Amino acid sequence: MAYNWPMHDSFRIKGLGGKKTLSGTIKINGAKNAILQAFAATALFKDSSTLSNVPNIEDTSRMCELLTELGYIINKKDERTYTLEIPENIITELPYELSRRLRASIVLTGPLLAREGEVTFPHPGGCVIGNRPIDIFLDGFLAMGATLEESEKSYTLRAPKGKDGKARLKGAEIFMRVQSVTATQTFMMAAVLAEGTTVLKNAALEPETESLATYLNKCGANIKGVGTSTITIEGGELLSGKGKVYKAPSDRIETGSFLVLGALAADNLVLEDCMPEHLEAVIEMLRRAGVNLEVGETTIKISNNGKVKNKSFKSFDIKTHEYPGFPTDLQAPAVVFLTQSSGEALVFETIFEGRLNYTEGLIRMGADIKLWDTHRVTVKGPSPLKGRELEGPDIRAGLAYVIAGIIAKGESVIHNAYYIDRGYENIEGRLRDIGVEIERISTP
Ligand code: EPZ
Repeated sequence: MAYNWPMHDSFRIKGLGGKKTLSGTIKINGAKNAILQAFAATALFKDSSTLSNVPNIEDTSRMCELLTELGYIINKKDERTYTLEIPENIITELPYELSRRLRASIVLTGPLLAREGEVTFPHPGGCVIGNRPIDIFLDGFLAMGATLEESEKSYTLRAPKGKDGKARLKGAEIFMRVQSVTATQTFMMAAVLAEGTTVLKNAALEPETESLATYLNKCGANIKGVGTSTITIEGGELLSGKGKVYKAPSDRIETGSFLVLGALAADNLVLEDCMPEHLEAVIEMLRRAGVNLEVGETTIKISNNGKVKNKSFKSFDIKTHEYPGFPTDLQAPAVVFLTQSSGEALVFETIFEGRLNYTEGLIRMGADIKLWDTHRVTVKGPSPLKGRELEGPDIRAGLAYVIAGIIAKGESVIHNAYYIDRGYENIEGRLRDIGVEIERISTP
């Protein structure tokens, strides 16, 4: 099937030149890194599933296109609620082009292999933030009794025959050598239909995994220990989603991105429908830097910030860390913040080895950043930024360039808007609503 994804858009931004005039309210959407996994988890169901608070981002569209090609019937009940009719037999070959665009497609391997006994998939694509190996996935499936066949472009995994002669994964104890988020989620789902007990060790602790497990347990799964580094799953039968609704938790990365923007360029900004308890590391850092944040149950407010000079913010060192540490997905926006704060900061990106290349673009804007190796930069501030033409390299660095363009003096053009659209719904509309002069340039 041919798709015409909007791959060639750009954003043109008129910078504020350091003034803090933005003002208004931003409603935080459902989390991309929860909803993609929830879509994949529906392959564990025998009938249907309803997903709500779904963000209308490009990745949601890609996932729906992918599942439709596997035989699903997907309808939008309303703006943010999707109903999915699960086919009795799901096609188990993930379409190459679609899967390459969506790193999260790898999460489908768990439920499909567990349900259908076989899955074929290409080496997953996604952001160019490192080589994104999948060894942990393959090792775990082998531990669950699967066999692996590799071809030049794809992998095929097959489950062993269970007691009843049907292909079925076996419960196993799996120690993940790093706390991989999607590997944790993938094995948790595969184990729901495996024979016997599965114990995941060194499991990732992200809240998105917890929200998924809660939903699956409501639908008949038996998952214990989520939110700790050891998760135990008792294998059972296909789940039923009838009458139950999964609600995506609020996107903590979107929240953190807008918090940085608010601190640097807003007088008054209210973030609504957010979950501050998922952002403690970021809130703590920004407060220590001197940002005045008023944190409510589901809101975070920045008030009377217009007269606070960015150079009065103090720099802070960042070491990205698995949850609940400082999230790697907020490293790029935080570096933009550090270019405007006073002092010198060390930023240590511990999770990915290719996630600091974007700093070259900030240096071209006037930032004082030194790249020491693929994991470490030092950022000296404050440095006034000048508008530039930049190529957004991935979702989060693309958003960081938008923030930099907004605070810079003069005009910026950020290419590869598609990457930003993958993770942020209607970004230009929401920014315009708080006073940003931004327009989308669509090139066919
Ligand atoms: C998830 O990616 C997120 N994506 C990423 O968000 C996020 O940056 C990352 O977790 C870390 O928090 C989704 O949830 C869809 P990992 P994931 O496996 O699961 C290495 C965004 O912008 N590793 O936790 O792919 C890996 O190379 C995206 O929204 C292996 O070595 O990340 C990395 O160094 C970007 N072998 C480390 O583990 C494997 O088999 C952690 O990656 C798997 C991972």
